[in-house]
Amino acid sequence: MPGEMERLRAACAACGRCGLGKTRTNNVFGMGDEHARVLCVGEAPGEQEDLQGLPFVGPSGKLLDLYLGAIGLRRGEDVYIANILKCRPPHNRDPEPGEIEACLPYLRAQTKLISPKVIVCLGRFAAMTLISPEFRVTRDHGVFFEKGGIWFMGTFHPSALLRDPPKKALALDDFLGLEDKLKELGAEK
Ligand code: URA
Repeated sequence: MPGEMERLRAACAACGRCGLGKTRTNNVFGMGDEHARVLCVGEAPGEQEDLQGLPFVGPSGKLLDLYLGAIGLRRGEDVYIANILKCRPPHNRDPEPGEIEACLPYLRAQTKLISPKVIVCLGRFAAMTLISPEFRVTRDHGVFFEKGGIWFMGTFHPSALLRDPPKKALALDDFLGLEDKLKELGAEK
């Protein structure tokens, strides 16, 4: 019998709550450890993710894996990776408010099932949606906010770091802060 997460995945794959289901190739539900301590949330699938049906599999995903590896985390083992939108917006345009509203219940349901200690928001869309509309990445990255028993931290989107490599050191600091936070919470390995 399929578990809750598989039922949610199937519902998401059949979703028609917004128009993106008509233009995407694959629904990108998420992947990883369903009991992860850390949930990483990006913006929306890009071209590679849309083709493969998996999150962060392109160049930005490789960079994300490096940061996770730097603090001893591995996607699939201690981490779950998902996006605010489960379907790729055409030509990678920005998510629209109505699409975010339509899609967010899936992420909320995933979060309930995973019950992570920390949610890492990758980039401004994730941070503004999950932390605060006032969130500014350059000002607030690396800061931890508690909401409903979960800690949230926003950092630079890996794609932004690929375009602006000098910021990579700041992002590494944010992940080192995540390592400290997990220790503080008694949630290290
Ligand atoms: N960018 C995102 O925000 N999410 C992905 O899955 C890939 C690229």
